[in-house]
Amino acid sequence: MTTIRRFQAADWPEIWALLRNTFASGDTYAYAPDSTEAEIYHAWITSPAATYVACDDAGQILGTYTLKPNQPGLGGHVCNCGYVVAPAAQGQGLATAMCLHSQAQALDLGFRAMQFNLVVATNERAVRLWQHLGFAVVGRLPGAFRHPTRGFVDALVMFKTLDKRTAADPR
Ligand SMILES: CC(C)(COP(=O)(O)OP(=O)(O)OC[C@H]1O[C@@H](n2cnc3c(N)ncnc32)[C@H](O)[C@@H]1OP(=O)(O)O)[C@@H](O)C(=O)NCCC(=O)NCCS
Repeated sequence: MTTIRRFQAADWPEIWALLRNTFASGDTYAYAPDSTEAEIYHAWITSPAATYVACDDAGQILGTYTLKPNQPGLGGHVCNCGYVVAPAAQGQGLATAMCLHSQAQALDLGFRAMQFNLVVATNERAVRLWQHLGFAVVGRLPGAFRHPTRGFVDALVMFKTLDKRTAADPR
């Protein structure tokens, strides 16, 4: 069984290994592929409002996500999340579970909507998954992402208004 819980300090080495490998590929997130551990700790742990991990029964970390306001002040009721699943655990519903969990957490924290700012258009699995979970593509940013092998590719802005009904799995 998978458990999703808040990040604890002892989780960091496992999360860092997962994030370092994911960002090193340079095809899904804008973080520089050679980002330092301190930079990613700040981005994933210090700066978000909350960070969560998904673990298996043995406590091994299979995935992680962050939750934070997308804008300060008057835009602060819209949150932003980032999700990463370990390659060996992909295709088993983990990102689905984390995204549903994040929507429930966001509602509990008082957010009214969730926005993804830079979903790389070539990350087709992610685009399809977020659409299936009720996120709409509200904008397409031409060439906004510098892909390591495909050059300048489009990025999508995706948005979902949250309420207790829509935060459930629509499938
Ligand atoms: C994108 C990413 C988060 C998806 O994670 P995942 O855990 O593989 O996603 P899920 O398993 O929940 O969903 C993937 C697909 O598998 C399907 N699935 C869900 N449970 C399943 C199961 N038990 N068996 C087989 N397939 C299943 C889902 O329905 C989904 O299909 P869909 O794309 O048609 O909707 C993951 O590939 C990843 O971490 N990539 C690198 C970082 C990244 O791209 N993050 C997102 C940036 S926007």
